[in-house]
Amino acid sequence: MKISDQTTLMKNPNVAIAGATGLVGRKMIQVLEERNFPLASLKLLATAQSAGKVLSFSGKPLIVEEMTPRSFVGVDLALFSAGARASKEFAPIAAALGTLVIDNSSAFRMDPVVPLVVPEVNPGDIRRHKGIIANPNCSTIQMVVVLQPLHERFRIKRVVVSTYQSVTGAGKRALKQLESEIAQEPLGERKFPHQIAYNALPQVDVFVEAGFTREEIKMVQETRKIMHDDSIQIAPTCVRVPVIGGHSESVNLEFERPFELDAVMELLRHSPGITVQDDVAQSIYPMPIWAHEKDDVFVGRIRRDTTVASGLHLWIVSDNLRKGAATNAVQIAEVWLAQRQTAEAQRA
Ligand SMILES: NC(=O)c1ccc[n+]([C@@H]2O[C@H](COP(=O)([O-])OP(=O)(O)OC[C@H]3O[C@@H](n4cnc5c(N)ncnc54)[C@H](OP(=O)(O)O)[C@@H]3O)[C@@H](O)[C@H]2O)c1
Repeated sequence: MKISDQTTLMKNPNVAIAGATGLVGRKMIQVLEERNFPLASLKLLATAQSAGKVLSFSGKPLIVEEMTPRSFVGVDLALFSAGARASKEFAPIAAALGTLVIDNSSAFRMDPVVPLVVPEVNPGDIRRHKGIIANPNCSTIQMVVVLQPLHERFRIKRVVVSTYQSVTGAGKRALKQLESEIAQEPLGERKFPHQIAYNALPQVDVFVEAGFTREEIKMVQETRKIMHDDSIQIAPTCVRVPVIGGHSESVNLEFERPFELDAVMELLRHSPGITVQDDVAQSIYPMPIWAHEKDDVFVGRIRRDTTVASGLHLWIVSDNLRKGAATNAVQIAEVWLAQRQTAEAQRA
């Protein structure tokens, strides 16, 4: 679909979404539209099963196409949310054609040449991309947005985090499993190893090493890469809960430096991408039903941990499909676009 006129066509990128029919892909369409992202054209890609489906962008119908190596010819920017296998196959092809890939999967996140970016934390890393930029794991994104300003001021030594993760973090089949279990409808293939309705599973993704799941390992490795600090100790436990609006995290921090609670509150209130919701007398604290469809990371239950010299408890909630995936990817694209426009202006 051509959206802009001839003048903007020269400057605005042709965009593709790989995995457009998934939970994240559909949210990407919505976020691009809401933020009025300046694109020249939008191409929607998925598997052959979805080819011909009609989705809409800015009130206009768009037909989904099967993703093939030819899909990226003439595409300047591709937002990938089609899973790690598809990313490994197609992202290098797109990058070789000159497309900038912003990839939501785990395929390239720990590749040393691929920047792993949360724009509130390490926007400068975008500049050193070689065709692919990775979007971090959803649980990691919402945590580092809050950790970064605290680390700069008080130096974090250790993080103990327990997650309460929404089923939407595991894709459309996971959501279907929860809905079918609640409705007591027959279920096809399960996404989770157990019933998720009325339950809590202390397993997100598969178990990989020393009793930890892949999600837990990602939280450790990705946090250190994004924050450029391998010294931070992180002890994670990731739990799937029957929630739809977003992920919640109980986070306990130990700092090197002493702090005053008022200073922490003030710092978080003035840090980008964060909304403080903390009025316990009124039972005000972050919850997935309030975070749902919002772009910010919400933090509350901010209190001192008196069991250590300089410790802090936090409760962090964010919509995993937005800041944890689609919004973060589009924000990366916005920074990239601004950098590209500056470079073009300097050349002109
Ligand atoms: N959900 C989250 O909160 C979240 C957060 C951060 C990152 N991510 C990552 O984002 C990716 C997508 O997640 P999701 O939750 O949107 O999953 P999903 O709902 O299961 O959707 C997967 C999408 O990928 C497409 N797809 C799969 N294999 C493909 C292939 N070989 N070629 C073309 N398209 C293909 C599917 O197309 P069909 O509809 O045609 O099958 C669908 O559009 C995953 O890598 C996930 O780890 C998700």
